[in-house]
Amino acid sequence: MCGIVGYVGPQRALPILISGLKKLEYRGYDSAGVSLLGPDGPVTSKAAGKIRELEARLEGVPGGEGPVLDGAGDAQVGIGHTRWATHGRPSDTNAHPHSGCSDDFVVVHNGIIENFAALKEDLVARGHAFRSETDTEVIPHLLEEEYRGDLVRAVLRVVARLRGSFALAIMARAEPDRLVAVRKDSPLVIGLGDGANFIASDLPAILEHTRRAYILEDGEVAVLTRDSVEVLDTAGRPVQKEEFLVRWDPGQAERAGHPHFMHKEIFEQPDAIRDTLSGRLTDDPPGVRLELKLSAEAAARMPRLFLVACGTAYHAGLVGRHLVERLARLPAEVEVASEFRYRDPVVPEGSLAVIISQSGETADTLAAQRHLRSRNVPVVAVTNVVGSSVAREADQVLYTWAGPEIAVASTKAYTTQLVALTLLAIHLGRLRGTLSDEVTVELVAGIRQLPALARQVLEQAPAVEAVGRRLAAARDIFYIGRGLDYALALEGQLKLKEISYVHAEAYPAGELKHGTLALIEDGVPVIAMATQPDLVDKMASNMREVKARGAEVIAVAMEGDDEVPRHADQVIWLPRTNPLLVPALAAIPLQLLAYYAAVERGCDVDQPRNLAKSVTVE
Ligand code: AGP
Repeated sequence: MCGIVGYVGPQRALPILISGLKKLEYRGYDSAGVSLLGPDGPVTSKAAGKIRELEARLEGVPGGEGPVLDGAGDAQVGIGHTRWATHGRPSDTNAHPHSGCSDDFVVVHNGIIENFAALKEDLVARGHAFRSETDTEVIPHLLEEEYRGDLVRAVLRVVARLRGSFALAIMARAEPDRLVAVRKDSPLVIGLGDGANFIASDLPAILEHTRRAYILEDGEVAVLTRDSVEVLDTAGRPVQKEEFLVRWDPGQAERAGHPHFMHKEIFEQPDAIRDTLSGRLTDDPPGVRLELKLSAEAAARMPRLFLVACGTAYHAGLVGRHLVERLARLPAEVEVASEFRYRDPVVPEGSLAVIISQSGETADTLAAQRHLRSRNVPVVAVTNVVGSSVAREADQVLYTWAGPEIAVASTKAYTTQLVALTLLAIHLGRLRGTLSDEVTVELVAGIRQLPALARQVLEQAPAVEAVGRRLAAARDIFYIGRGLDYALALEGQLKLKEISYVHAEAYPAGELKHGTLALIEDGVPVIAMATQPDLVDKMASNMREVKARGAEVIAVAMEGDDEVPRHADQVIWLPRTNPLLVPALAAIPLQLLAYYAAVERGCDVDQPRNLAKSVTVE
């Protein structure tokens, strides 16, 4: 997730771009850049780090006429970008805007170009020289190939060659009075000013200039001059747009109208899952393609897999272990990072370690990773932050592409970790020959459905809200489950505790009777995770057990199950899918339950007491 801004109008573009970028910094903040259309063509300045680093480089913003701008400081047309790296680490060179062999075309991009590798190979063979490691850079090079005197036509031809998700803002030396914007699966709005027009990833960037906007739909292309905005479809036909009048205050706008970042991030999960899958599923034959170097021989000989992480990421590891053992028949251990390094673990030669961390900066996780590497254990990092310490120090990285997660409580990072670990388990299963073609095809088909199914689960938010608000009054809440459902129960109780401060515990459902059952009395809420068909009968017994002691049972189950409703006071239904893929869906109602309980209790949802987003101390 990155932030895009563009301006064409009568004022100096630079201060408008910089202030717009600052409003979008929540979308990404590892590097930033601007391009201004000066008298001699585009002039670009970029810097790794936050936007203030870029400002420092531009010497004198809002004066903005430092030598670096090469006389373009007064330009009235420009584009800017704040980056959240996906392809290529954060650096000056990988920062946007990007141009091709010349500076004739300048592009900023949000999203992922899935087929960039093939396009790049082709372009290199045709003599194009690339400067960055990004997927984005193929676009200005393609524009150089496709431009025949009409920027809009060239953009349409280039867009037809791109696969993946993208929002683009494009500027061309030969057509200095216009900007072109494109949206496919990545948000983009056009701000409609008086004698000036704007491009932005999100409304906060334009609100100090205008409250009138076009919200672009997928496949729409906007052509902006000072006095006009024309919207076209991908065939170049005009589209009639309705103006959107923004009524949000600036804080609401930054959260895209959501009351909290956590709410926004919960609702971003279908897109985060889609992005994490992007380019990693194959059609022919159906399978997964991961950017990992691991030979079939090493996979076959691998004695053990270690998954190490903290908090929510540890809970993702528990799901990962289950999937790796099931699909790759590989013994796997999951351990809390702060425990792992101090117990002098036995790691058989040939083992692989998977370090899971949203931030990539968690001190305990990093220390465990260093401990493993000092013993020559190869490490694959599953992280959301390109260039983070965990990513830099790992041997290989499998990124989750969830975009920045601002709320302390992890939501979309967790579900994308689950997706990444599912892909890893399938990959290992294929390499080790334990996963048949038939099961692979079935799993890949199910995985493709996940973004749409996650959207269906989110549609039930109003029903879950009612339960969450009611649970806010409880003193203790118990979460129970078996197998994958136990791993989910652990994540559900952590989410509730950390943001609502209601006491909660998770138990393997079969373990209650060994002690904790003594705590069940009239009206105690029990969240029963019962999503796994082969364990539903066992879960039914456990639900009966707590119900008989007066518990209020709220079950989470898969549609079509007729056993669970007999034992629950209420059921939250999930759409049917392969049981191994349920966790990424079942996590969503658990997040919503915690969220609404916290809201009902008046808690600071995004910044719960005593906690920090990134725990960089041991
Ligand atoms: C979960 O909601 C927490 N914020 C916390 O448990 C978190 O998952 C943990 O601190 C690990 O963080 P990381 O993924 O950035 O390493």
